[in-house]
Amino acid sequence: MKEAFRERYGPVALVTGASSGIGRAFAGELAERGFGLVLAARRTGRLEELAAKLKAAHGTTAQICESDLSQPDAPAALLAVTAGVDIGLVVSNAGFNIRGAFETTDAAEMARMLTVNCHAPMQLAHGFIPRLKARGANGLGGGLIFTGSVEGFIGCPYSTAYSATKALVIGLGEGLYGELAGSGVDVLALCPGATESEATARYAEKYAAVQNMQPAREVARLALDNIADGPVFVPNAHYKAQFEQLTAMPRARALSAMAAAIRATL
Ligand SMILES: NC(=O)c1ccc[n+]([C@@H]2O[C@H](COP(=O)([O-])OP(=O)(O)OC[C@H]3O[C@@H](n4cnc5c(N)ncnc54)[C@H](OP(=O)(O)O)[C@@H]3O)[C@@H](O)[C@H]2O)c1
Repeated sequence: MKEAFRERYGPVALVTGASSGIGRAFAGELAERGFGLVLAARRTGRLEELAAKLKAAHGTTAQICESDLSQPDAPAALLAVTAGVDIGLVVSNAGFNIRGAFETTDAAEMARMLTVNCHAPMQLAHGFIPRLKARGANGLGGGLIFTGSVEGFIGCPYSTAYSATKALVIGLGEGLYGELAGSGVDVLALCPGATESEATARYAEKYAAVQNMQPAREVARLALDNIADGPVFVPNAHYKAQFEQLTAMPRARALSAMAAAIRATL
């Protein structure tokens, strides 16, 4: 199974946001499946430490790329430095959230979030698709995983800008799933619910209140196991059921109920 997976999507995978949380978990899971890695993030010290750990455990070869995806040219730079590398799987995972009342959030930070969460995956997909399709044409396969969120299924009050960025990610994945069907390139919009990560831990005071937290490694493993079952995949059964229920409600009622529930915790 692992051999067949590596044969189809290997030999090398790119993971953005590999320095912590879900991205780091993807790197670990892919190393265990025999992949070489291109690891991208701003904190290269973290990436070096991870690369050393994966080399010791699995003999993994990893290329470290310092990349600040809030810079609009960063995706092009990643494409350029990996030009000669046979990347069969792109995990566009880097992202962050801003929570709170929309009008009180910092405008510049919101612009950075838009660039990291939306511009980067779109540009990376645009640049890598010809390379992945060429593999498909040569009898190999390719894969594109976008880390979205269940928050992309409905505009989430007090997470409004973030959930809007994740709606774009889901739309990007869905459109490409349709466009690339039959090309040998699998596309998956991964929509985690609450997952153990640094982002979650930053909300330490509310950490205990977050229910049904899933380990990042489980999210990564399930995403890879379901890469061919797109376009959208929710790895957390609790959040899958919860958001199915919310999106089946009349929208106005669902949004008012969500806003009231969150306001009560502020
Ligand atoms: N945790 C959850 O509950 C949850 C739920 C749904 C979706 N998600 C999504 O999962 C993805 C991973 O988040 P996480 O929960 O694993 O959080 P995390 O532990 O904070 O990891 C975020 C990763 O993104 C990278 N990143 C952030 N800003 C960046 C920038 N400007 N340039 C390049 N890389 C950047 C970080 O690397 P550096 O800081 O080193 O640059 C880090 O590796 C995100 O897209 C997030 O929206 C998370």
